[in-house]
Amino acid sequence: MGLLNVEGLVAGYSAADEVLKGVDFAVEPGEVVGVIGPNGAGKSTLLKSIAGLLKPGRGEIRLNGEAIGGRAPRDISRMGVAYVPQEQNIFPTMSVRENLEMGGYVDPGGSERKIGLAFERFPVLAEKRRHAARTLSGGERQMLAMAMGLMVEPKLLLLDEPSAGLSPLAAERLFLSIAAVKKDGIAIAMVEQNANEALSIADRAYILVDGRNHRSGPAAALAADPDIRRIFLGG
Ligand SMILES: Nc1ncnc2c1ncn2[C@@H]1O[C@H](COP(=O)(O)OP(=O)(O)O)[C@@H](O)[C@H]1O
Ligand SMILES: [Mg+2]
Repeated sequence: MGLLNVEGLVAGYSAADEVLKGVDFAVEPGEVVGVIGPNGAGKSTLLKSIAGLLKPGRGEIRLNGEAIGGRAPRDISRMGVAYVPQEQNIFPTMSVRENLEMGGYVDPGGSERKIGLAFERFPVLAEKRRHAARTLSGGERQMLAMAMGLMVEPKLLLLDEPSAGLSPLAAERLFLSIAAVKKDGIAIAMVEQNANEALSIADRAYILVDGRNHRSGPAAALAADPDIRRIFLGG
């Protein structure tokens, strides 16, 4: 049994709307799983469904064997799943430190210790702890968003396109931070447009096309597959 098991997930934005048309997806404890595929394939919809922001129409979402489909986002967060959306994932006018406090709202008592850990993990956030989040660089904002997610001490971190809009250097730094989070034993499911980079740090990956599973397997095997290179990885 995996940490997360999604089976036959059908979900969309209204009752009749099937954006996901029966998706299977799994994450084992401690692994990094990439999710790639064209725009509109349903990658974000998959993460939103797992995080509890969308009610699944059909299918199962299980965390450590327990059905979580349709539970409130706050409950799912308490059960150890942190979700970092692609956009509006920080509070721009609040300081870096206040953002981290917001990230830890489900367990305010443990905040001080966990903010200390976040500052150890991301020294640049410690340096800028009193700065308004809107003054951070793109890469620093994504680090802050990830640090906010980590405030709930998740077993599973869901990242939606963390490197979107970053320079190659900033993206590389961010991927290093993601690899460091994995080293601490936290599983990560990561949607990425930077498919080559995502496959290079992922253990396994899924390719979604039009709301369905297209291919999945070890990331290295997918990255080496000539058809996948041609269609999804730009040759
Ligand atoms: N808030 C929304 N309301 C209605 N339809 C949406 C919404 N968000 C996404 N969709 C639709 O769902 C489909 C999949 O979107 P999404 O999961 O965001 O794709 P991806 O992340 O793979 O680019 C698209 O057709 C998109 O138009
Ligand atoms: Mg998306």
